[in-house]
Amino acid sequence: VSVIGLGNMGSTLARALLEAGHGVTVWNRSTEKAVALSDAGAKVAADAAEAVCASPVTIACVARYEHLYESLGNISADVLRGRTLVNLTWGTPDDARAMERWINARSGGYLDGGIPVYPSGIGRAETELIYAGPRELWDRHAPTLRGLGGASRLVGEEIGAANVVALAIPGGFYHLCYGAFFEAVAYAASEGVPVAELSSQIESAFGMLTSSLADAVDAITHERFDTDQATLGIQLDAMLMARDAALRRGQRATLLDALVEVFERGVAAGHEDSGSAAITSMLRDGG
Ligand SMILES: NC(=O)c1ccc[n+]([C@@H]2O[C@H](COP(=O)([O-])OP(=O)(O)OC[C@H]3O[C@@H](n4cnc5c(N)ncnc54)[C@H](OP(=O)(O)O)[C@@H]3O)[C@@H](O)[C@H]2O)c1
Repeated sequence: VSVIGLGNMGSTLARALLEAGHGVTVWNRSTEKAVALSDAGAKVAADAAEAVCASPVTIACVARYEHLYESLGNISADVLRGRTLVNLTWGTPDDARAMERWINARSGGYLDGGIPVYPSGIGRAETELIYAGPRELWDRHAPTLRGLGGASRLVGEEIGAANVVALAIPGGFYHLCYGAFFEAVAYAASEGVPVAELSSQIESAFGMLTSSLADAVDAITHERFDTDQATLGIQLDAMLMARDAALRRGQRATLLDALVEVFERGVAAGHEDSGSAAITSMLRDGG
């Protein structure tokens, strides 16, 4: 297996492949990062094309897709024919579609992927990396790719699908939750309550989040938004009080304020007495 890009993530991917017993060839734009991998048993290629040439499958993980085009330069069909590029660089669905056209035009096979974990999650049995592309390529390379995350799976054959999932959940949802935590800590601190006092409530909030998200998936799948738990209106009321308390303490409450605005649009659209998952169709349609 070859690996292009040896930053925090690419180095970890290369090490996991070495630990799984693969022969690994690596390339990185700046050579010093390759030295550590060489010490760990990897071969170091002189350029990205040589790295691709060295293996039937190359895993790329650079900062952005444009860096991969730069790295591969004018690589020829002779190099890519019969080989597969698996691109785990973070990007958009359109980035993936353009890269697939570019690789296919040079006779290579292409899988696109997303990494929803930090490097510490790589190589674990429970880690799910997400892939998109031709099922035949996934089936061929899954045994290798599952060494990077044992629960990895093909999201769909449409090449943009993995990046859609990656942008939606780790990119959007996860970062919003993480950011909301900092906003909550700041509010509590402004009232003199230290972060340690929030710990047990964080745990119970995550328990509730797990079950309410499972309920939301079910509600959205079956388009059934009635609830005997908490209506959107009552949840909005709780958020309004939290936002106003934060504002009174001189906090900006930026994320909470934005969410209040979303839920107010939900009320205006007639969803006040439904479960809050009812607003997803409004959001999907740009409302
Ligand atoms: N770190 C994470 O927790 C994490 C999690 C999920 C996904 N990802 C994704 O994984 C990818 C890599 O992240 P990272 O954490 O490894 O980043 P990083 O440590 O900053 O490394 C960036 C990599 O991109 C290369 N690069 C930057 N500009 C380049 C260019 N113009 N030409 C060629 N190579 C270039 C760097 O090469 P040099 O060493 O020569 O600068 C390095 O190999 C990103 O798309 C990131 O979003 C990361």
